[in-house]
Amino acid sequence: MNDSTPAATAPARKVTAALVGCGGIARSQHLPNLTRAPNIRLQAVCDVQAAAAQSAQADYGVPQMTTRFEDLLQDPAIELIVVATREDFQVPLTCQALEAGKHVYVEKPLADTPESCRRVVEAQARHRKLVQVGFNRRFAPACRAARRILLKRGGATNIYFRISDEYWNWGRANPPGVRVIHEVCHVFDLLRWITGSEAVSVYCASARADDEIYTLKFASGCVATIMNSGEVTCDLPKERLEIVTREPGALIVEEYTELRTYGCKDEPAVFRFAGHTHPESEFTHKLLFEKLGTGAVDAFRRMRWELRNQQEAGLLDGNDAELRKFMERSFPHVNYLVDKGWRAAVEHLADCILGRTTFDGAGPQDALAASQLAAAAIRSRESGEVVRLKQTT
Ligand SMILES: NC(=O)c1ccc[n+]([C@@H]2O[C@H](COP(=O)([O-])OP(=O)(O)OC[C@H]3O[C@@H](n4cnc5c(N)ncnc54)[C@H](O)[C@@H]3O)[C@@H](O)[C@H]2O)c1
Repeated sequence: MNDSTPAATAPARKVTAALVGCGGIARSQHLPNLTRAPNIRLQAVCDVQAAAAQSAQADYGVPQMTTRFEDLLQDPAIELIVVATREDFQVPLTCQALEAGKHVYVEKPLADTPESCRRVVEAQARHRKLVQVGFNRRFAPACRAARRILLKRGGATNIYFRISDEYWNWGRANPPGVRVIHEVCHVFDLLRWITGSEAVSVYCASARADDEIYTLKFASGCVATIMNSGEVTCDLPKERLEIVTREPGALIVEEYTELRTYGCKDEPAVFRFAGHTHPESEFTHKLLFEKLGTGAVDAFRRMRWELRNQQEAGLLDGNDAELRKFMERSFPHVNYLVDKGWRAAVEHLADCILGRTTFDGAGPQDALAASQLAAAAIRSRESGEVVRLKQTT
């Protein structure tokens, strides 16, 4: 037979997924990402608050909604459950999903304590399904590029990371001093991934609650300082990573938008990364970040801060729809426009489920390690002593 007609190709299989927890991160990331990922079909959304699930269903055209998590567990078509509730429910929901034979993507921090994280480590070992924890920064294009260069240059010897924002404005429902568990966990994970090594000691110096530094030493010999502050304003860039490499030179990642190299003769001096797309903001910021780098991110941040000052002073014209839209958050916050790897992380898990690649994300063991580091940092803060970490499994 000599048929020149191209054979009809079967559509690529997609993973059937469900999302539980339709709050802030679901609306700013998971719903837009799960409904646009080429390898995922979002079948159902679930929230204990019916209104949250209903609006997620309506806004993103999801076939089913429910307020009962059991409905997701009982649906044999659902292969993957994305859990984005809050730490108090993430462990029990993940364990139930594993027992029901589902793969899980679960938000960080997996839990408040290492003991709770360990329950997921054990459940995964029993049920042998994939579990990815939402340490998405490992999938940020800027971080992946930095790691690629680092590996060629003998690794990192000295790291500085700043993670700072208006926690005083949005995070105060949490007890003081727990930002290290909720936010800095991302940095602990990223530094373990960058150094390819475990932290052996941590020291915390605290100026006031949620405004502190941590110094860490890694088994690789690398040392790191993390500046964590929830006491700044929204015009300050939120995250900055500086790395000294073993071969003389350095790398700086600013806001996941720009990677600058120093002393790296075979690399460009500046890499720029387009922002993360969102149905409500597909092009503008992407183009600006790619062309102008962190200067464009700074401008977005400064604009929000200045507009808020004007709003508080009663100076904003009530008829200015553009400004209102920006301030009322129907335009995604700049924190969610830079590409911190959220979509690539969940697409990676779907590819693993489809057997197209092997798992390279953060698993429950990584969540446990980050949680142990946070607990050690708190012990150091309380005792004023360096805390040495035992490597446990
Ligand atoms: N990876 C990131 O960059 C990132 C960013 C922000 C938040 N997060 C994490 O995502 C998680 C959720 O944060 P958020 O800001 O979206 O919280 P949120 O409070 O805005 O939303 C949580 C939603 O889950 C629902 N919910 C709670 N318990 C439930 C249950 N048992 N069953 C069904 N629904 C339930 C709530 O009704 C709510 O709608 C947290 O762990 C947070 O730390 C991660």
